Amino acid sequence: MQRFDGRVAVITGGASGIGLATARRLASEGAKVVIGDVDAVAGKAAADEVGGEFIAADVSDEAQVEALFQTTVDKFGTLDVAFNNAGISPPEDDSILTTGIDAWRRVQEINLTSVYLCCKYAIPHMQRQGKGSIVNTASFVAVMGAATSQISYTASKGGVLAMTRELGVQFAREGIRVNALCPGPVNTPLLQELFAKDPERAARRLVHVPLGRFAEPSEIAAAVAFLASDDASFITASQFLVDGGISGAYVTPL
Ligand SMILES: NC(=O)c1ccc[n+]([C@@H]2O[C@H](COP(=O)([O-])OP(=O)(O)OC[C@H]3O[C@@H](n4cnc5c(N)ncnc54)[C@H](O)[C@@H]3O)[C@@H](O)[C@H]2O)c1
Repeated sequence: MQRFDGRVAVITGGASGIGLATARRLASEGAKVVIGDVDAVAGKAAADEVGGEFIAADVSDEAQVEALFQTTVDKFGTLDVAFNNAGISPPEDDSILTTGIDAWRRVQEINLTSVYLCCKYAIPHMQRQGKGSIVNTASFVAVMGAATSQISYTASKGGVLAMTRELGVQFAREGIRVNALCPGPVNTPLLQELFAKDPERAARRLVHVPLGRFAEPSEIAAAVAFLASDDASFITASQFLVDGGISGAYVTPL
């Protein structure tokens, strides 16, 4: 499949995890990939690997986000896909009773304000072209509650989901689709380290996953590629769950 031949995709947080897997997938299908990330070393390495471009950008900084999309269009002529994916999940964001206002604000800035900024500066380019696809990374915690709370993270992802729905509706007739990706837990180095140290924590979560395992980043990337491509031409304003069945489950298989 070469669904992105001649197309340009900006991926924030493309230096690692889901973003990196998506950079690989979109590039393998013909896209010119632009990675916007704060990690210059990993970002450059990722861009080199996929024959793309790295642009240093902190997604919570308005001027840097504007420049990320403008530079992309100046250099490559078009903006077909914006995968607004950068996000953080720091340990100081925990129960509402212990999470301080600074931790709350930092997570809101990087997970939610960033998506507002990326959409704000991507959409005008897509309006000019009369087409474009935006995928914003939310999470399954945007649609269900967890007793193992990360309160600001959850609230930020709920905000991403609601904002995405609204943008999808507002810009539908201008050829711009906007969808929220809601991944379940993904097998990342961070998660592995956390759960290798504490098998009980892993088991507490895995029992809720009908498929009985966490996702691989490439499985999330496959869903992003679908949403970003013309194969998803009738899908907009959606909450696209890629969660191994978690959100649909009551009793899971033994
Ligand atoms: N991993 C999971 O289980 C999971 C589940 C659901 C949703 N998500 C969401 O998926 C997205 C990607 O997660 P991941 O697991 O691949 O994370 P990751 O930590 O592997 O990668 C995140 C990337 O974002 C970059 N980044 C962080 N802050 C930034 C900033 N201010 N500006 C620009 N770049 C910044 C990091 O440098 C890194 O390259 C996040 O939005 C996360 O909330 C992850």
